[in-house]
Amino acid sequence: MSAIGYKSGKLHIENVALEKIAETHGTPVYCYSAEQIADNFRAWQSALRKVMPDDKFTICYACKANSNLAVMKLLGGLGAGADVVSGGEMHRAFRAGIPGGKMVFSGVGKSEAELATAIKNGLMLINVESGSELRLISKIAQRENTRANISFRINPNVDAKTHAKITTGLRENKFGIDLEDAAAFYREAKAMPGILPTGVSIHIGSQLTDLAPFEEAFTHLAGLVAQLRQQGHAIATLDLGGGLGITYKDEVPPDLGQYAALIRDIILPLGVHVVLEPGRSIVGDAGILLTRVLHKKEGHTKKFLIVDAAMNDLMRPALYGAYHPVIPCNAPAAGQAQAVVDVVGPVCETSDTFLTDTALPENITAGDLLAIMVSGAYGAVMASNYNTRPLVPEVLVHDGKFDLVRKIQKIEDILNDDIVPGWLA
Ligand code: LLP
Repeated sequence: MSAIGYKSGKLHIENVALEKIAETHGTPVYCYSAEQIADNFRAWQSALRKVMPDDKFTICYACKANSNLAVMKLLGGLGAGADVVSGGEMHRAFRAGIPGGKMVFSGVGKSEAELATAIKNGLMLINVESGSELRLISKIAQRENTRANISFRINPNVDAKTHAKITTGLRENKFGIDLEDAAAFYREAKAMPGILPTGVSIHIGSQLTDLAPFEEAFTHLAGLVAQLRQQGHAIATLDLGGGLGITYKDEVPPDLGQYAALIRDIILPLGVHVVLEPGRSIVGDAGILLTRVLHKKEGHTKKFLIVDAAMNDLMRPALYGAYHPVIPCNAPAAGQAQAVVDVVGPVCETSDTFLTDTALPENITAGDLLAIMVSGAYGAVMASNYNTRPLVPEVLVHDGKFDLVRKIQKIEDILNDDIVPGWLA
């Protein structure tokens, strides 16, 4: 069941009319359904519980998808750990009450300060991506009189068959270490005083709609674990990454039950603790970007709906050519005439376009509200102040009520961050 739909002719998120949120907080504004986020998380939990007991897995929510503290707190409360990729995300996870023991630290370029924070806080796993990083971790851990639990992120050279910009498991991608080099890396790690090489990790890409690449990668991983154990390494944890796709247009996402069955068949015989890092599939369909039509404009060849949300608020269409459905907040009447339009933002770039040549009710006009759908993942987190546009606020809907979960930024706040040097004053 989707938490976003029409009731009495008005688009609602749970039991709240989006119109009401726009009246209270203005537009553009991200709106998330707490119930949908929780449902998505519970669907993951229940699929995994069907194949293994609770203490055999940790769902480390990939908070890069949506790191709003309220969202993280909600998920932490349901039992989620966190996959973090920066010191900033780590601090968010701590602030949300997620303990270091349920956190994994991923990312291809971690700084000394970030690694030190991870080590001091006893993170469950640091996913190492290079020899240089390994040596730095050992140095820090020694200084801290401890040994860091690490895994190497293996690049299994598997084609995830997703968008090129979010494919990560091919040899030509910057991520991980080559499968062929893994044995040498583990040997080196085991000899280091500050390192406990107890895990193996992968993440092959995002928005995967086919299970076959997962199957291939898991199979490589299982082979590697057997080899490493033969070589005397005590591998206790496998981090399988994230990447399960969702429906934006007509994609059919992989079935969670079938995904869990792959884990059961390929991974569980190894007797390891399983870490999962889903992001998009937890929050993507739980959010929309609510926007108002500023102007309607008819050119010689095109009709435009110019809305108050822009590429700086939701970058995905401009950056990846991603498709997000746009629907009106007033339900179209039966038989309503349609017009073919482009839905565009006010930013001075042609790439600031949400939809091209799309059919929308002809009577949509300036002042009307539209919902840019499936925007809960990689939306607000990727927003910027481009064109000196305030960062878009966020609202979380729960139990018939809605709360602002990110402040409305004022233009004054943005200007106050710049510093004019004395010689120009
Ligand atoms: N783990 C690691 C190591 C990752 O790099 C990612 C995503 C995830 C987990 C979560 O993957 P998910 O379950 O969300 O697919 N901005 C892009 C997506 C970038 C994904 C980067 N890594 C987009 O808007 O499509």
